Amino acid sequence: MNLFPLIIKNDIQPEFFNEYEIQSEPHQLPSFVWDGEELYWQDEAKQKLHVDFASPKQLWRFSKLNKAQEPILRALKWKNGETQSVWDLTAGLGRDGGMLAYSGFQVTFFERNPVLQVLLSESIHALSDELPDMADRIQLNCMNSIEYLKQAIDDINIELPNNCYLDPMYPHRKKSALVKLDLRMVRDLVGDDPDSSELLSTALILLKSDRGMQRVVVKRPAKSEYLGDFKPNYSIEAPNTRLDVYIP
Ligand SMILES: C[S@@+](CC[C@H](N)C(=O)[O-])C[C@H]1O[C@@H](n2cnc3c(N)ncnc32)[C@H](O)[C@@H]1O
Repeated sequence: MNLFPLIIKNDIQPEFFNEYEIQSEPHQLPSFVWDGEELYWQDEAKQKLHVDFASPKQLWRFSKLNKAQEPILRALKWKNGETQSVWDLTAGLGRDGGMLAYSGFQVTFFERNPVLQVLLSESIHALSDELPDMADRIQLNCMNSIEYLKQAIDDINIELPNNCYLDPMYPHRKKSALVKLDLRMVRDLVGDDPDSSELLSTALILLKSDRGMQRVVVKRPAKSEYLGDFKPNYSIEAPNTRLDVYIP
């Protein structure tokens, strides 16, 4: 098993330290860092990447959410009191999927990058203390979602969700101060997602398979071309993004 490097900045060792190779001094970056309260990823430039579903900032954002207006919820036809399921095929930092779980969706995350898998997994673990009901609505699959969709095409016993949601990396923009630091760090970790149109085409096969899936939603930058040139049934426009909605 490949162990991840871990720097411990506190005398209290985390419960999970067996899965890591604890670094002795001098510490090398990039590495995971445990500061006694939180686990984060730190790159060579000492920039920190966190996933925290229950941080005060995140909880404040959730509390301000206007569910009837929020574009992703509108695209997924959120209704108060109704539980729908969604496969978030490109979990990343789990921001969109976290908002969906907070709003009552049953969310299955798929993430293939090992560093993000660890950060998501620890954050879900921490959430089970803070907001257990929300944590119960989240599942994490540490794998390539294209592979899982292909398995689901072949195996009709795999229960499909009501919705699939994709937010793949958008082809490289010049290093811009407008791109937030954490998104730049995700890009440095995962690169572009060159197979994103294959991901959509595979999800569309399941959508058309008459097995109860109701929609596939793709998040794109505003005014960008459609992913893989697959024309959606309709789109929901937001100031910086567009949500392309595919129905059977
Ligand atoms: C733009 S980020 C997603 C951001 C996310 N929506 C959020 O709110 O934090 C894209 C992520 O999808 C992951 N990804 C892309 N294609 C994938 C695939 N086929 N299977 C699993 N993960 C994938 C990448 O590794 C990356 O972490």
